[in-house]
Amino acid sequence: MTNSPSLLDRVPVIPVVVVDDLGDAVPVARALVAGGIPMIELTLRTPCALDAIKAIASEVPEICVGAGTIVEPVQAAQAADAGAQFLVSPGSTETLLKAMTDTGLPHLPGAATVSEVLFLLEHGYRELKFFPAEASGGAKFLGSIHSPVPAARFCPTGGISTSNVGDYLSLPNVGCVGGSWLTPADAVKLKDWDRISGLAREAAALAR
Ligand code: 3PG
Repeated sequence: MTNSPSLLDRVPVIPVVVVDDLGDAVPVARALVAGGIPMIELTLRTPCALDAIKAIASEVPEICVGAGTIVEPVQAAQAADAGAQFLVSPGSTETLLKAMTDTGLPHLPGAATVSEVLFLLEHGYRELKFFPAEASGGAKFLGSIHSPVPAARFCPTGGISTSNVGDYLSLPNVGCVGGSWLTPADAVKLKDWDRISGLAREAAALAR
């Protein structure tokens, strides 16, 4: 297992990005950096995702690029080979944890219940993704488990936006959140990189 170095204390919001067109990957990454968010989670949900990670890793060295939506063990090594610097999975199985650990990269395994949190703590993890955050009880859930399970810290993701991000970031067991609102599909389609930089700037200024 490895959460080290910490993934939760770098930026208030990790942008969760779906890239449909490979040509958008580098400009999106540059726009996030320009807005003060030097971190990006590229989800492995589109055919060009691994190539997008590769392009960002080689052309935007100032950003920390990670691979999200790791749902099959083989994807961990593929993402590492593409140049990913961290890995994120929406849930956790023994084989998935082993595959991510084998890459040597820091990674955030997903949990949505207290039992899953305890399972991951038993495996040595202290930093977890809480997914799908809003659908699984949201900030109220995380606030409720801090007292009984204080060792776990979270990056909640799923359903978070400007309207509820403050509820999460004010919790003692939340280091940062993940969200796709920094890179709206329509802004990417219109290649409105300034809008993405503006959204990143607002996110970078959020208090933790
Ligand atoms: C994720 O992959 O972590 C989520 O799908 C991002 O969720 P959001 O689109 O609701 O921010």
